[in-house]
Amino acid sequence: MSRVETLIGDMTLAEKLGQLTMTASSYAVTGPVIAGDSTESIRDGTLGNLLNMVGADHVFEMQRLAVEGSRLGIPLLIGLDIIHGHRTLFPVPLAEAALFDPEAWTLTAREAAAEGAADGLAMTFAPMLDVSRDPRWGRGVESFGEDPWLGVRMAEAKIRGFQGADLAAAGSLAACAKHFCAYGPVTAGREYAAVDVSERSLQEVHLPPFAAAIAAGVATVMPSFTDLAGVPMTANIPLLRGWLRAEHGFDGVIVSDYNAIAELINHGVAADLVEAATLALKAGVDIDMMSDAYRRGLPPALERGLVTMSEIDAAVRRVLTLKEQLGLFEDPYRRGAKAESPVAVANRRQIARSVGARAIVMLKNENNALPLSRPVRQLAVIGPLADACAEMGGAWGAAQKAEDHVTVVAGFRAALPKVEILHSAGVAIQSKDTKGIQRALDVCTQADEILLCVGEGAYMSGEAASRAQLGLPGEQRAFAEAVFDHAKALGKRVIVVLFSGRPLVVPWLFEKADAVLAAWFLGSEAGNALADVVTGRVSPSGRTPITWPRAVGQIPIFFGQRPSGRPFNPQDHFTSKYLDVSNEPLFHFGHGLTYGRFALSNLRVTPERVTESDTIEVRVAVTNEGARAAEETVFLFTHDKVASVTRPLLELKGFGKIALGPGETGTVTLRLRATDLRFPGLDLQPVFEPGEVEILAGPCADRARLLVQSVRLFA
Ligand code: BGC
Repeated sequence: MSRVETLIGDMTLAEKLGQLTMTASSYAVTGPVIAGDSTESIRDGTLGNLLNMVGADHVFEMQRLAVEGSRLGIPLLIGLDIIHGHRTLFPVPLAEAALFDPEAWTLTAREAAAEGAADGLAMTFAPMLDVSRDPRWGRGVESFGEDPWLGVRMAEAKIRGFQGADLAAAGSLAACAKHFCAYGPVTAGREYAAVDVSERSLQEVHLPPFAAAIAAGVATVMPSFTDLAGVPMTANIPLLRGWLRAEHGFDGVIVSDYNAIAELINHGVAADLVEAATLALKAGVDIDMMSDAYRRGLPPALERGLVTMSEIDAAVRRVLTLKEQLGLFEDPYRRGAKAESPVAVANRRQIARSVGARAIVMLKNENNALPLSRPVRQLAVIGPLADACAEMGGAWGAAQKAEDHVTVVAGFRAALPKVEILHSAGVAIQSKDTKGIQRALDVCTQADEILLCVGEGAYMSGEAASRAQLGLPGEQRAFAEAVFDHAKALGKRVIVVLFSGRPLVVPWLFEKADAVLAAWFLGSEAGNALADVVTGRVSPSGRTPITWPRAVGQIPIFFGQRPSGRPFNPQDHFTSKYLDVSNEPLFHFGHGLTYGRFALSNLRVTPERVTESDTIEVRVAVTNEGARAAEETVFLFTHDKVASVTRPLLELKGFGKIALGPGETGTVTLRLRATDLRFPGLDLQPVFEPGEVEILAGPCADRARLLVQSVRLFA
């Protein structure tokens, strides 16, 4: 008999439920703290999994209690939210998405896994694969943005990175595809609120990244906190047992979200923990994170015949199998056995710097305000985010040390040693106090150039960080307006560095600034990465992975909308529009300026007659007509003009990049499998329908800027 089956045969009910329980832990001066429990449970085998323990020594201490101190010696599974890095923080996921570079996405996940594993950890609760089309929702910062195809690429890349080729390797972590599914469209963008989306949008938008995660071999899946059309995801039998396990063959571990099983009571589908535990187990949730519902609720449920021992065993089997796949039985101390070399750590910082620079999206650059080219003796680096190391990390970073992060001020002092960097915060991120504004204006008076660092604080996006007003918090608008007016009077330019975990709706700022860089949250190397771009050492190449609204009332706004029967026509009142704001976003998906100036031409698509087994080749000539070397991103979209169900106005199907010197021309070649032109038909099954399909290529999702050629599909 296999190890797993032998163990299951030997285990008491209490030990089985221990394997199905995950509890938060930490280390205080007095020793380990196990939330609502104690290390005694690890020793008696009734607690089999932990989250949040940081530090190899602490992890090993816990592991020893389980392996050497418990009757069966089953190792613990210890996980942490390693979302965009562990100790070294990379840009937040939304910022990383702006790279449109799957290899870079894999690399940062690989590095994060190595660093987390060096701390003894074996699991991360990432990647988050929720399509985010509503910037009010704070968790968009953890996502890849608005597009499901991009989500598919991100899922593949991240899982490859976290898990590596061998889950048992010392540098690999079990990944977790979360939050399954359709967490993004919470009602009115309000965190944890209910979701009600159509079966079609599940199939077309929300499920594909999860399907890709399963195909990529993701080890675990986490259901979302939310209720989906009346059925909370933690108890959602059709999606968990049906779609995930039966249809897509996922046989890994399903781990609940934090306290989500107990919250089935608040959702109103369970009267108590017994019912809640029953619902979750029946739906296929294996590990109960933080509810203690399985340990408390399943024994009475078993007695009353609500669940069976074989259902419990099936969950235990999956947990033990994962521990086996992670190599934990073989050597529970493999991860964390060796401290990382200083070279590996330094190299990781370099990666964070270069990925950081590439994640920056230059949204505006009037009259070539950037890169700084005039001689500068004094540079004002002002604003509440200019010298704020604690804000640079972004939404997640349990193991971060804020003082390790490079602030904007520090980055510029290092990059421009001969320039005097003048700093004044002006205002705090959120307070009402405006007394510091005058001091900051005085600094501007002295300086040759002004860099204004404003935006949200790191924790204003992420979990439980929905916002209904998407402007600058606190008194930052008053401050920024004062800086703009003052600079105008002095004849100076203002370059804005905008920090945020979402597109902020600040059209006034875009109008007045000479240049705007979306800095999102760039992680440990933020200041260096920004200095690289502002000084021109690196030419910006990031592209926004989410449509940038001009008004909160436009939300949700995304390029993949379906056509209207009355498309907007300025000559006709009765067409799809607002009376008070344009339909157009402020910046389209994919927008992002460079230090070059690119022209796209000569779109060639072959073959023109396509059958399902073909691969379509799309070529586009790109010329850098600007005066500086830069990298252009070309996006490939399709539009199926007539089909049995309405198709989105644009569907993303590819992207490619090309670096060109001034005056150079090159070709970007993109390949599209005809099978990728299938879509869920009337019965929601994939169909490949004959007819005309437009193939579009261009620099962003602005239809007016896309080159188009049609192909014909044949059955
Ligand atoms: C979040 C998850 C996270 C978990 C563990 C929850 O509140 O929704 O994304 O993985 O906590 O920290």
